[in-house]
Amino acid sequence: GPARDLSGRRIVITAGGTREPLDPVRFLGNRSSGKQGVRLAEAATARGASVVLVAANLEIPVPAGIETRLVGTALELQSAVTEAAVGADAVIMAAAVADYRPATVRGDKIKKEDVGDTLTLELVRNPDILAGLAAAKTAGQLVIGFAAETEADPDRLLSLGREKLARKGCDYLVLNRVGWTEGFAAERNEVRIIDSAGVIVAEAAGTKMSVAGRILDVVVTGLG
Ligand code: C5P
Repeated sequence: GPARDLSGRRIVITAGGTREPLDPVRFLGNRSSGKQGVRLAEAATARGASVVLVAANLEIPVPAGIETRLVGTALELQSAVTEAAVGADAVIMAAAVADYRPATVRGDKIKKEDVGDTLTLELVRNPDILAGLAAAKTAGQLVIGFAAETEADPDRLLSLGREKLARKGCDYLVLNRVGWTEGFAAERNEVRIIDSAGVIVAEAAGTKMSVAGRILDVVVTGLG
């Protein structure tokens, strides 16, 4: 079996993509499947961690035997992860969180007969949950973010990652390229992990399970 190098550790992992409702039947969403986050939760459990998975609209089954909190929107994800993070050794924000949500949610279905040929949506910023967790983290706690970018140039992707890490104040950032076929729904993933100094501390390419293993190796090292 795998090394039990996370035994006694409490790890919170977010997975999936938030959906921001427009009306009772429609939402703004993204193409995150939740696979990478769920593989992280499974791998951390296998290595002995006690895991809370905060799951937003997974396209794959919720894994059996892992404590899971189901959420829909960014604001719901924020309250679930903030609560679960209390006393946790590490928080891994693998979920794709909507940056904006509709300013108002209609109580009834939006009807084209009422709206006409163009419909303008007003959106408001969602809180940056990762930055909030990093700002509130307690001594010894690790906060790990993801940066899913469509930038194809590896050097430019790295610079974007370094800027993002500095902005968010997290301990590690997992960089991966996403696009129409890469990243979200795929079975494989390719990532680089940078530390708070912007230094690449790990690289991994392979199944999402093997990438999860590399990310957890970094967590083990970071926890010391
Ligand atoms: O800013 P960007 O969305 O690229 O950052 C991605 C990272 O930040 C991911 O770890 C994601 O879970 C997190 N995030 C967040 N709250 C947001 C947007 C992203 O925690 N509103």
